[in-house]
Amino acid sequence: MSKQRVLTGITTTGTPHLGNYVGAIRPAISASQDENNQSFYFLADYHALIKCQDPEQVHQSTLEIAATWLALGLNTDNVVFYRQSDIHEIPELTWLLTCMTGKGLMNRAHAYKAAVDANRADGEDSDFGVTMGLYSYPILMAADILMFNANKVPVGKDQVQHIEMARDIAQRFNHHYSEHFALPEAVVDDHVAVLQGLDGRKMSKSYGNTIPLFLPEKKLKKHINKIKTNLLEPGEPKDPDTSTVFQIWQAFATQEQTAEMRKAFEEGIAWGEAKKQLFELVNEQIGEARERYNKLLENPAQIEEELEKGAAKARAYSAPFIEKLRRAVGIRKIGQ
Ligand code: TRP
Repeated sequence: MSKQRVLTGITTTGTPHLGNYVGAIRPAISASQDENNQSFYFLADYHALIKCQDPEQVHQSTLEIAATWLALGLNTDNVVFYRQSDIHEIPELTWLLTCMTGKGLMNRAHAYKAAVDANRADGEDSDFGVTMGLYSYPILMAADILMFNANKVPVGKDQVQHIEMARDIAQRFNHHYSEHFALPEAVVDDHVAVLQGLDGRKMSKSYGNTIPLFLPEKKLKKHINKIKTNLLEPGEPKDPDTSTVFQIWQAFATQEQTAEMRKAFEEGIAWGEAKKQLFELVNEQIGEARERYNKLLENPAQIEEELEKGAAKARAYSAPFIEKLRRAVGIRKIGQ
């Protein structure tokens, strides 16, 4: 059986947090160890420009995300790990696909529609502040996926529509220019935990409620102490199923440890004590990776080297493929 090609992108805005780790990074690193998969993971820095126009932040986030994945044990001998902007064939393919994408399809994209709805609610012109980057974002994403003929694309629920759009665009291209692209499928894992943040809402950079993954120990402890709880006193039974402390515990603990903590909640463990134990559990699990992370940040040349190695591997696919696609649409040297 030939290997399944699994591909996913990480937009380079922000600093990785516990929610990213549990929801995306940990499962992706573990999937990359499966011999039936051939994994392509990349830093989507062109996508970052859609949301973030602060150059320093885009750069810093790229560095931090790369260092995070490497520190957590991504094995770049088994995985093609690269930076989107190193693959010049991707923007080129984006254009070929743009010319095969109905404007009507893009009108239906969630991110664009949400911006239009917000504008209307504010009494603004519908397209106020909407860039062409935001509008055609799904085409860039289709190029990321189709460039490598990925079969499976692990994503969060909010991204499923984009994978369906990539399929539509691929089908239209295949229909017009003959079969060039595999049709990708979204993979949404419902078992993966979606962590709550400090305030109890979903942990997300946009809510400002995250716990960054590689905080220094003391700061990690402080953040965990800030998790919102109710006013129940030590000795009063607490409901684990509505508690952010318990939910994060569960995402890091073994089944046994989870059962023990559940019992401790029922027996009225003090919030301070539960948080102390949570800190110890998380700290122990990420401690070694944090050391590797800090070492990598001191030695950014090593990160760059990894990314360049990844880019060379990725371009071994993308360079010949774009040549074939250029020919397919009628772009080639005269007389050849
Ligand atoms: N848009 C995705 C996100 O915000 C990131 C991304 C960019 C991506 N290109 C991709 C994911 C290709 C999967 C495949 O999460």
